[in-house]
Amino acid sequence: MVRAAVLLLAVALCRAATLDSELGVGKSINIFMRYGYLSICMRVVPRNDTDGWVFREPTVSVFRDVDRFVVAPKPRQAKTLFDGDFHMEFCDNLKQLLQAYFRDFSFERLERPWRAFTAGWPTDIMARNLGINSSFINGDHCYVLVRVSRFRETAKLKDLPTNIAVEDVVYEAIDETLIGDTVSIADFVRKYGSHYIASYITGNSLYQVFVFSRTAYSMIKERLKSKGVADITAKELEGYFSPWQAKHIGQIKVASGNKTVESWAMKRLRVHYYIFSYPSLLKLHGEPALLRNLDTLLGNEALLQLELKTLSPAFKDAKKKKWFEEVIDNYLKLWESNM
Ligand SMILES: *[C@@H]1O[C@H](CO)[C@@H](O)[C@H](O)[C@H]1NC(C)=O
Ligand SMILES: *[C@@H]1O[C@H](CO)[C@@H](O)[C@H](O)[C@H]1NC(C)=O
Ligand SMILES: *[C@@H]1O[C@H](CO)[C@@H](O)[C@H](O)[C@H]1NC(C)=O
Repeated sequence: MVRAAVLLLAVALCRAATLDSELGVGKSINIFMRYGYLSICMRVVPRNDTDGWVFREPTVSVFRDVDRFVVAPKPRQAKTLFDGDFHMEFCDNLKQLLQAYFRDFSFERLERPWRAFTAGWPTDIMARNLGINSSFINGDHCYVLVRVSRFRETAKLKDLPTNIAVEDVVYEAIDETLIGDTVSIADFVRKYGSHYIASYITGNSLYQVFVFSRTAYSMIKERLKSKGVADITAKELEGYFSPWQAKHIGQIKVASGNKTVESWAMKRLRVHYYIFSYPSLLKLHGEPALLRNLDTLLGNEALLQLELKTLSPAFKDAKKKKWFEEVIDNYLKLWESNM
């Protein structure tokens, strides 16, 4: 009697221990669950809530001893002014802009991972998340995305070997799936997920979208391509990203939505021209003092990069693995074309 009770308790604890919403390499998630709305559970754009979560998607432990495959992160160099990345991306249309924003998110077997975040955004939410007026979402416009990202935490797994051990419950669940039976795979995915986290970076970023007419855009793109940003004077660069060239200058947004950082950016990153002023992330270009400031201001509050791979390595039988991949492919195609 006592023995049975203890056993039951032990089982209950094991089950509880495998399901949480911790961001960790090797953990598995079901990307079908919130396809199109992933930003509800992963902080990738500013949100209205003040809770400090970065990632709250339910995850499951599928592999055993996955820590053995963790790649040690590179230590930060002592002299680095800013530990992160500052870049500018030219986008011919809205699709390319969304693609650029989610450039560092890759989900194996998914051709357009950015759709998994943005497919469910109506025009006004899209405009708010990009920091631009909604009148520039539809119609013929070109965009430049400027972003400065501060990395805080990075984690990465090596490629998992095909003989990697899986948790007992997962082993049993895979045993119960049947080749040719789509529903059995769907059941498995619902319980244990479709993809595992192969790498991620958290931190925070500032970003800004500039909207251009096709003519101005082509001229600036050509000019920067032939000379390179480093060889252009700060004045010339400022001119390209000013209200005289751009149709619309978006707000400077903070990925985590942190209001302190937002108001710092609003005050410090303004270009003044007589009585007139506008926000510009390009002010950071060649201003070490501002960058140094930002290095401390941007905390560990948002998800900046995420690489997901399918749970294929959990399947040991070659035929079953192939069937799993086939079902995942078909589902993903369906999701990508229907959302
Ligand atoms: C965000 O919060 C503000 C203030 O609480 C509220 O007025 C606004 O409607 C909220 N926006 C959304 C999209 O929830
Ligand atoms: C912003 O959008 C609104 C409606 O979407 C429009 O009425 C307004 O003129 C736009 N502002 C600018 C500066 O384009
Ligand atoms: C916002 O950022 C500031 C500056 O880095 C930090 O002190 C503060 O704790 C952050 N606020 C939230 C709610 O995370």
